[in-house]
Amino acid sequence: MKICILGTGYVGLVSGTCFSDLGNNVICVDRDQKKIESLNSGKIPIYEPGLEELVIKNFKQKRLSFSTDIDLAIKKSNIIFICVGTPTNKKSNATDLKYVFQVSKKIKKNLNSYKIIVNKSTVPVTTGDKIEKILKTKSNKGKFDVISNPEFLREGEAIRDFIYPDRVVIGTNSLRANRIMKSLYLPIIKKKSRYFKTSRRAAELIKYASNAFLATKISFINEVSNLCEKTGVDVKDISLGMGLDQRIGDRFLRAGPGYGGSCFPKDTQAIVTIAKKFKTNLSIIKTVIKSNNERSKILLNRILNIMNNKIKNKNITFLGVTFKANTDDMRESPSLKLIPMLLKKGANIIYYEPTGKKSEFSKYKKVKYQENISSACKKSDLIILHNEWNEFKQLNFNKLVNKANFKIFDLRNLYSPKKMNKTNIKYFGVGR
Ligand SMILES: NC(=O)c1ccc[n+]([C@@H]2O[C@H](COP(=O)([O-])OP(=O)(O)OC[C@H]3O[C@@H](n4cnc5c(N)ncnc54)[C@H](O)[C@@H]3O)[C@@H](O)[C@H]2O)c1
Repeated sequence: MKICILGTGYVGLVSGTCFSDLGNNVICVDRDQKKIESLNSGKIPIYEPGLEELVIKNFKQKRLSFSTDIDLAIKKSNIIFICVGTPTNKKSNATDLKYVFQVSKKIKKNLNSYKIIVNKSTVPVTTGDKIEKILKTKSNKGKFDVISNPEFLREGEAIRDFIYPDRVVIGTNSLRANRIMKSLYLPIIKKKSRYFKTSRRAAELIKYASNAFLATKISFINEVSNLCEKTGVDVKDISLGMGLDQRIGDRFLRAGPGYGGSCFPKDTQAIVTIAKKFKTNLSIIKTVIKSNNERSKILLNRILNIMNNKIKNKNITFLGVTFKANTDDMRESPSLKLIPMLLKKGANIIYYEPTGKKSEFSKYKKVKYQENISSACKKSDLIILHNEWNEFKQLNFNKLVNKANFKIFDLRNLYSPKKMNKTNIKYFGVGR
């Protein structure tokens, strides 16, 4: 099939590359010229395991191309995927749909034959109706179907999630569009993914409800972990004991620094805002947002406690600063809140991040980047294991740190407290 991807970010690039690997002809479009130039010269603008090899392979086989010419790309394609960003409008807390509407207007101009407009961006329920309204003219009648196909991939696992998803959700009432989408996804459905056809509005809401539910699980276990700390219980036992109940399941029940990234914070806010528009109070999700916002304050107090309130001029090392392992994405990372709070208390921050130096911290004089774990830890008073990259999982801290009495605060519970205590390291985890 001839596919055009509008917006070549995390979702667009992964989706476009995977569809091309399944044998389709894909043009990935972006208005960011630098991004397209970089992709055309074989450089991948994001860190995503396995993506580079797949892009290069399909680019060489001429199934995958990159362009800034949105008009031509739309004209040449039968299926148009909208994969542009849908950020939160900071003033209204509503989803900013300007990029979605910008590309919809471009599609309207270039409908030279029947096309399926597939919205993969995460959008409030009823957005598909608005896109359809933009496209509808007398001359465009019967020339398009607007459908919803929300994306559930996780950064860091994106290729696997795309090729082996639990489900493919298609929201449409058009038999024609459904038939074409089913054949596009056939190689994926054959690998035992469930193909679920529903209404367009339901598909839009399934995405928001799913993210809000996962965010709820994370916040739930984080709050339980606060109680574990006070009662001498290991939260890992709670997660395991709860997770063994198949009605609950053990995934997304790991205590940590709170949820971040480009999706959960924005999508929880967005579903609350759209619900308000329809005069519905989503009180549970509102509480989850509040609970997650308070997480950094709880962690700061824990750090003050661990350091006996002596943080001024102490060297605090962060291992990892992105919102989780295996991604370079800094959007809404917990470190963006925690590091400024520690700076205010007079700490010196050193960080090592496997995906390199982050511009978000360049405005702080007392935040220094180190290119490897050992130079980041050498003079540390406190090491904060901020995320769970494999390279952080088997470190010999006594060899890494030159200072006596250094401490470790493990926000991902990567190490065994028992083993750590045997090495005389002052080790603290979350909820244990
Ligand atoms: N990142 C994730 O893990 C993830 C997972 C599932 C769903 N989503 C959703 O997918 C959507 C995209 O997310 P993302 O993380 O890929 O965003 P992103 O910011 O990485 O990429 C969006 C891209 O769209 C481009 N763009 C914006 N306006 C454009 C226009 N008018 N014409 C052409 N290109 C344009 C931008 O330049 C950018 O490259 C969002 O709605 C997000 O909520 C994201």
